[in-house]
Amino acid sequence: MHLFDTWLCFGFLSLVNGLREYDKKDLITLREEVRSMFDHAYSSYLTYAYPYDELRSLSCDGFDTWGSFSLTLIDALDTLAVMGNFSEFRRVAEIISARADFEANINVSVFETNIRVVGGLLSAHLLSRKAGINLEPGWPCNGPLLRLAEDMAKRLIAAFDTPTGMPYGTVNLKYGVPEGETSITCTAGIGTFLLEFGTLSRLTGDPLYEEVAMNAIKALHYYKSNIGLVGNHIDVLTGHWTAQDSGIGAGVDSYFEYLAKGTLLFQDPLLATIFHEHKAAIEKYIRREDWHLWVSMTKGQVTLPVFQSLDAYWPGVLSLFGEIGDAMKSLHNYHRVWKQFGFTPEFYNIPQAEAGTNREGYPLRPELIESVMYLYRATGDPYLIQVGIDILRSLQHSAKTTCGYATINDVRDHRKADRMESFFLAETTKYLYLLFDPDNFIHNSGQKGEIIETQWGQCIVDAGGYIFNTEAHPIDPGALYCCHRSQNLFSDQKATLWKFIPVNDMKEKENIEHALYPKDIKDTNDDKPIEIVKLSEMRHTSVNNVENNNNKNLINPLPLINGKVDEVIAIEEESKINTNNPEALSGSLCQEEPESLKVQVAAPPSGIYKADDSENIDTYETYTTSDGHYPTSATKNNTESFIKQNSIKSRFEPQILLENIRKRIYIQQIILQK
Ligand SMILES: *[C@@H]1O[C@H](CO)[C@@H](O)[C@H](O)[C@H]1NC(C)=O
Ligand SMILES: *[C@@H]1O[C@H](CO)[C@@H](O)[C@H](O)[C@H]1NC(C)=O
Ligand SMILES: *[C@@H]1O[C@H](CO)[C@@H](O)[C@H](O)[C@H]1NC(C)=O
Repeated sequence: MHLFDTWLCFGFLSLVNGLREYDKKDLITLREEVRSMFDHAYSSYLTYAYPYDELRSLSCDGFDTWGSFSLTLIDALDTLAVMGNFSEFRRVAEIISARADFEANINVSVFETNIRVVGGLLSAHLLSRKAGINLEPGWPCNGPLLRLAEDMAKRLIAAFDTPTGMPYGTVNLKYGVPEGETSITCTAGIGTFLLEFGTLSRLTGDPLYEEVAMNAIKALHYYKSNIGLVGNHIDVLTGHWTAQDSGIGAGVDSYFEYLAKGTLLFQDPLLATIFHEHKAAIEKYIRREDWHLWVSMTKGQVTLPVFQSLDAYWPGVLSLFGEIGDAMKSLHNYHRVWKQFGFTPEFYNIPQAEAGTNREGYPLRPELIESVMYLYRATGDPYLIQVGIDILRSLQHSAKTTCGYATINDVRDHRKADRMESFFLAETTKYLYLLFDPDNFIHNSGQKGEIIETQWGQCIVDAGGYIFNTEAHPIDPGALYCCHRSQNLFSDQKATLWKFIPVNDMKEKENIEHALYPKDIKDTNDDKPIEIVKLSEMRHTSVNNVENNNNKNLINPLPLINGKVDEVIAIEEESKINTNNPEALSGSLCQEEPESLKVQVAAPPSGIYKADDSENIDTYETYTTSDGHYPTSATKNNTESFIKQNSIKSRFEPQILLENIRKRIYIQQIILQK
């Protein structure tokens, strides 16, 4: 209550002269309110829900959702470090590190498990040093959390053993891809592995992970339509699109995000090319005014005129490439929707200005605040602080319960549902905190870092430029240059990594393989590329497990390529998913949630809170050009001069920082921390 009063007070004062300036003290007050929000939700999880995956924030107990690996604990771990609670970070890291592996007879989503578990573990591993953990010799190329991340990735990688290289949506953590598993996967479920798997490869020196992730991206890109768009769901055995709606939101979103962030993290020109190619098609067909709609991937005509809550990550991605004007315009639209309801509904019908039928919920998603955080870093525009405050106020007013924060079941009446997804602690609270904490170490853009010695030589860590995975787990890009083994592998052998070749061209592939793989990385026994044999082994091990539980080590690689072609033809069948069906675009997920996740709903509150509409939300336009809008490309010159005048960074730091790290031009300027 005290914090709330304080806010009202300075909020009022700053309105007196019509300006919204937030000084450091104001921001710290807001930041501390976010910390309390995190603490309330986090300690409730520990008290009521641990060791289950998630907290049920109305019934004050726990349940397993995406696996049974205390998901919220893993997902929240690096947020503790971001908020500076290193003692709790160390306590939890120790608990998690005590785990031997993830072997369990459960079916999990490959996508969700990668972004939440593998991403969370990698990020925590890279933050361990900063948090004061006793490091194993060889860090960051070694350590218990890294080993666990690799263990999980190995289990997930069984899903990639398909003729196209695109993964199945589900694996069993003990047995691999379940018998009879559908071969239909959503686009995001295929193209959202590179940040985690690439990091894993660079740290462990095993190129397999990066290779399969890149391969899946190349496959998606290969199957794009003639007009450069990708659909929503594809058959990973045949490359046949089964849901042809193309947009930037649910089912697709993080594919584009990983192309953009992969470009920055790995400095890979191929990813940049693919991203810009898709982006041009998005601009041409999907973007209408400053909204992004759903269109047919083949013709580009509108199939669904909706904004999705998940779309709101897009301005953040644009800001990574300095496209601040377009980003602000979209963000402004999204903020209007937020103010209409006090939250963004999963779907918003743009022509009717209504929440989408059966998609009226707000499960505490981070995408809007994520973009706000990036854009505030890029512009310093106080309008963005105002948006952050709107989000904070809505959560405090309508989502808070006695034991956490609850999903909003319906944004029109603010009824709550009995669930707090782990991304509330991994992402939503983290981005809010970072918005209000300009001095956070995460915002370091290379002013200081630390040189560490590894057995492969020197490298720089903690120099900032963090790249967030799609679950807001930050990756320290400097650390990727620490493990000499991988430097060797990636500079010398990159050209030998398996290139994506579609099923039809399988014959050609065999020829190309002979040209691609030099003798030394071939498996001498059966003349197959070593990585492909490994994948086969992985799958075959799983099969053996099913047949003979105790015979895990019996590895008997099958020829992958030849063995698969018949199967493809046999399995090719008509899609079960109806094109143009909005049901196909169900959240960021590739599959419907199990029945067990249906949750209890609470009665609506007596008063519905919405972000205050009495204030002019267009205040940001005081920062714009003469026509009263953030400029489009037509007035780009004005933007640039505006940005120069206001010494606004036109690019987000990681891009610049990474260039610096790569060139190693500023090593001398690094201030060594003691
Ligand atoms: C760190 O987290 C623990 C567990 O929630 C809490 O008890 C403690 O007060 C926190 N410490 C700080 C400095 O926030
Ligand atoms: C995993 O999925 C397969 C195929 O749907 C099913 O037969 C199996 O029982 C599932 N396993 C578990 C542990 O739920
Ligand atoms: C932008 O500025 C450049 C030089 O400063 C000029 O040549 C160009 O015509 C300008 N473009 C527009 C659209 O005004």
